[in-house]
Amino acid sequence: MATINHRVPCTRTHQIAALALIVATFFFTRLFDQTLNQCSSQYPTYFSVANAPDDVVSWGYGARLNLKIYVYGEDEIDGLKTLMYGREGKISAEACVKGQWGTQVKIHRLLLQSMFRTRRKEEADLFFVPSYVKCVRMMGGLNDKEINQTYVKVLSQMPYFRLSGGRNHIFVFPSGAGAHLFKSWATYMNRSIILTPEGDRTDKRPTSAFNTWKDIIIPGNVDDGMAAPKGRLVDPLPLYRRKYLANYLGRAQGKTGRLQLIELSKQYPDKLESPVLKFSGPDKLGRTDYFQHLRYAKFCLAPRGESSWTLRFYESFFVECVPVILSDQVELPFQNVVDYTQISIKWPSNQIGPQLLDYLESIPDKNIEEMISKGRKIRCLWVYTPESERCSAFSGILWELQKKMRQFHQSVETFWLHNGSIVNRDLTEFSKWKLPMPLP
Ligand SMILES: *[C@@H]1O[C@H](CO)[C@@H](O)[C@H](O)[C@H]1NC(C)=O
Ligand SMILES: *[C@@H]1O[C@H](CO)[C@@H](O)[C@H](O)[C@H]1NC(C)=O
Ligand SMILES: *[C@@H]1O[C@H](CO)[C@@H](O)[C@H](O)[C@H]1NC(C)=O
Repeated sequence: MATINHRVPCTRTHQIAALALIVATFFFTRLFDQTLNQCSSQYPTYFSVANAPDDVVSWGYGARLNLKIYVYGEDEIDGLKTLMYGREGKISAEACVKGQWGTQVKIHRLLLQSMFRTRRKEEADLFFVPSYVKCVRMMGGLNDKEINQTYVKVLSQMPYFRLSGGRNHIFVFPSGAGAHLFKSWATYMNRSIILTPEGDRTDKRPTSAFNTWKDIIIPGNVDDGMAAPKGRLVDPLPLYRRKYLANYLGRAQGKTGRLQLIELSKQYPDKLESPVLKFSGPDKLGRTDYFQHLRYAKFCLAPRGESSWTLRFYESFFVECVPVILSDQVELPFQNVVDYTQISIKWPSNQIGPQLLDYLESIPDKNIEEMISKGRKIRCLWVYTPESERCSAFSGILWELQKKMRQFHQSVETFWLHNGSIVNRDLTEFSKWKLPMPLP
């Protein structure tokens, strides 16, 4: 007790002084930042679509990308290959790279080639865990129980996952189910960075796996035939050649909003096109036919389906119709840099009816043209090209990841000593941690 009393007691005055110091520091840092930003105009603090140069997206995050990502090798961790190719190893990455969930393969491949990849775990800021599990499950390569068990097995073999409590580990979950694909995600993976197109999965589950402060929304994978800058399957039409005011192309899936749209299109068939589409059988709508249809309207309606995101939103930018989001819970990617009011419309889903068509009809073509032309400038953000393209979905993801980087990670099971040694609860040094490790 005596030694403790020797310390200067922390009085109210001290506390106020400390607080004042913090406030002052904060204020001066802000001031300094602002002055700096005024000088270096090539790095504006805020990227607005309105004044974006055609070829470059200037990110509002900082001066440059500077991060090191370790990508786990498929042979390095027992079980990873199962998450990538199924229990028999027969599911091919070539098959998984196609379709709206192809991001799980594309992001992995882009990271493997990235200049921000490191091969040394000791210097890595972030760790990427490859898995094509959405595709593997669709193709019967793994069932839910196997997926759950394999993830747990994989994670228990990663000392660095344990070290940070998973906080610097990145996973892609490319579908509406998000991290729910891994049944026990909330126990084992609830602090990791999850890349997902989905901000909400409340239709079938009571909770969302998405956390706006740690996870990253990624654009869905638009068909390469449309996203390619040259040789598109279908070219946009000039506004005067659009036959419809709006369209909705998709299955109803028993969802209220979609059913309402289909009903509305029966009442106003010359304004709203909503054809019955065949997604299988002899009359199956081909990829090209689909985009041909999509381009015949000024506005492309994107209502909520099983979950809140819909690929149609991203596709709209490539046929150049203005997307109208009818999905209240939607979460959009790269909100740090994109002002969505300039390129899209979000309309309340309880107002789906003639009033929606009246409203859309009241918008002058001039405004539609403007939205379309701004959308044209930023749609490169939906395309999964390498980081050498400054404007690409992948570059966007790297910037978002850089924002998540931390100098230091802690976890309940990690301790540190006076000399910087990291130990576990048994005081075993990090380099000697034994596998598999009990989790969490
Ligand atoms: C997932 O696997 C772990 C480890 O085998 C198990 O403890 C957990 O109950 C499983 N979760 C579900 C939902 O089956
Ligand atoms: C994350 O998992 C840990 C371990 O199971 C649990 O204690 C914690 O409550 C979970 N956090 C959230 C936000 O679910
Ligand atoms: C740090 O100190 C601990 C406890 O004294 C010791 O066991 C460990 O070897 C030291 N680590 C290093 C890197 O010197």
